[in-house]
Amino acid sequence: MKRHLLSATDLDRESATLVLDTAEEMARLGERSIKKLPTLRGRTVVNLFYEDSTRTRTSFELAAKRLSADVINFSAKGSSVSKGESLKDTALTLEAMGADAVVCRHSGSGAPHRLAQWVKGSVVNAGDGTHEHPTQALLDAFTMRRRLGRIEGLRVTIVGDILHSRVARSNVLLLDILGAHPTVVAPPTLLPVGIEAWPTEVSYDIDAVLPKSDVVMMLRVQNERMTASYFPNVREYSRRYGLDARRVAALPDDAIVMHPGPMNRGVEIAAEVADSARSTIVEQVANGVSVRMAVLYLLLGGSEPAIGSPAAGSTEGERP
Ligand code: CP
Repeated sequence: MKRHLLSATDLDRESATLVLDTAEEMARLGERSIKKLPTLRGRTVVNLFYEDSTRTRTSFELAAKRLSADVINFSAKGSSVSKGESLKDTALTLEAMGADAVVCRHSGSGAPHRLAQWVKGSVVNAGDGTHEHPTQALLDAFTMRRRLGRIEGLRVTIVGDILHSRVARSNVLLLDILGAHPTVVAPPTLLPVGIEAWPTEVSYDIDAVLPKSDVVMMLRVQNERMTASYFPNVREYSRRYGLDARRVAALPDDAIVMHPGPMNRGVEIAAEVADSARSTIVEQVANGVSVRMAVLYLLLGGSEPAIGSPAAGSTEGERP
């Protein structure tokens, strides 16, 4: 592993597979009555969140705590950011308190990359603007591998607001690295300029692609990032691009339905589809804890098996 995880492209196939394999070990730990390891005892993880989050922030916090790290949760709301303190000064202040890793979410694309130039510890990108969300892509890949037994060769269709989606970009990049075949589906107005350079097929027709999909990943329409009208109205968008029971019936029998959350039920995905047996949405949340434990463990120096070694299993063990 590199020192930072800023982009899915910081991983090659070998290191991405190491994260997924380590996450399997962490998931097994989650099945025990005592779900805690001493491996990051004495280490400090700062969750630096300048943008709202439910899943990512809480799962990084739980992941760090399960590894026995000290955790500082910093939210821009209610902090000295309101007095004008910059990202750099905020980060240096938190580093002065001994942060070994900074998990950063920011509305500015590239903010975690700048942070990585200023702090000595590891930086994890927890979602930057419309750019990337690499741990989401890792937990999605982990979920696919658990449900379908493999990633290589899977036909993964990603539908919706690709233009504003950091999840789509990180997923396309990681799926390509892992040998899957991504296709993005969206109205032309919700595809980014330069999409032809991404390692993905592009389609405007969801109904043409669904019968050839092992995985369909629905994305939220990100109204909060929209400065113009990208489609006529929500009903029309839902009719053309929403996943309902009729469209699910066109999928192969063992295909799965994913969504990174938060969902707009009734817009990009019907409630009955979100709650169906094909849906992995709740599993994705649970898998996020295991994958983020693996990322923190590997970034903060884990080179031995996370579980099973005397050091890992003992509260007196050396930290990595
Ligand atoms: N998927 C995801 O990033 O969700 P949150 O915004 O709740 O963290």
